Amino acid sequence: MMTSSLKHRPAIATSPDKMEFAADVIHGLSQASKSLSCRWFYDAKGSDLFEQITELPEYYPTRTETRILQDCAPAIVARTEPGSVLVEYGSGSSRKTEILLSALNKLAAYVPIDVSEAALEDARIRLSAKIPGLRIFPVVGDFLAEIDLPASLRQKPRLGFFPGSTIGNLTRDAAQGLLHTMGERLGPQSRLIVGVDLIKDPAILIPAYDDAVGVTADFNLNVLERINRELSGTFDLDAFKHRAIWNATQSRIEMHLESRRQQTVKVLDRTFDFAAGERIHTENSHKYSLDGFTELAGKAGFETLERWTDANTLFSVHDLRFNPR
Ligand code: TRP
Repeated sequence: MMTSSLKHRPAIATSPDKMEFAADVIHGLSQASKSLSCRWFYDAKGSDLFEQITELPEYYPTRTETRILQDCAPAIVARTEPGSVLVEYGSGSSRKTEILLSALNKLAAYVPIDVSEAALEDARIRLSAKIPGLRIFPVVGDFLAEIDLPASLRQKPRLGFFPGSTIGNLTRDAAQGLLHTMGERLGPQSRLIVGVDLIKDPAILIPAYDDAVGVTADFNLNVLERINRELSGTFDLDAFKHRAIWNATQSRIEMHLESRRQQTVKVLDRTFDFAAGERIHTENSHKYSLDGFTELAGKAGFETLERWTDANTLFSVHDLRFNPR
């Protein structure tokens, strides 16, 4: 069934193009400490692999956050004005969002933002069938992409949703800056629901980012495959090893790709030398204490209205209100 409210708006222009990918990869690999930005993980295959990660027994965040959201959804709904627009940053499959979408029955629209057009399209089709009448306006792009809504929706109150501890993939300074910018974009007094992974025993953390069957390794290595395909790269995937390391000083899990031997790799017209054991830093996943995150949110201009955790304090959900001084 196709009604006008379900019409798909083609997601355009904001999509990061190949030039940006090329410039970013060449820049990252030219540094003394090589790195790649985590945003390039999420092509169609990467998004698919990430979905598989979320179902791994070792990867506790997704299922724990889902349970917390099921418990706290009524409290979130109670604070939300009817007719609000739900804006989700890094929506991926939008599975967790279903909990909020079905609880928030007076929503004016849902705006999922993601770098993967394939993931957005799959989610749109599934949600349109499950929640008839829900207006969905997908935006392909990063968290700061322009949201271009119909005039009738522009003045509606906005509720931000930023789950999955994606905030942890930024450094603390960048996280504070991004939260502040989100607050400014959402508007004064807007609320933002953020999922935040908590500091815990590295014996639990490391396997979550280095699982027994190797899905996380495939996910990490997929960025090299993407460089090979889209930027005429010559990476030998068997010559790199996935590494997950707990950096206690920074309270973060670091993901690296480690060269198994000395080698030279081409990307477009450039060559890059790797020593045996040299690493490409591909991702950080910062972990917070409850108060540590509340403090960071405060510096970004957000007051914490409520926060929830699971019984084992593995993960947390924070209900924030933008109230800058
Ligand atoms: N936001 C997720 C996290 O930090 C992203 C993630 C999970 C991830 N597993 C990963 C990123 C493996 C890179 C590699 O938990």
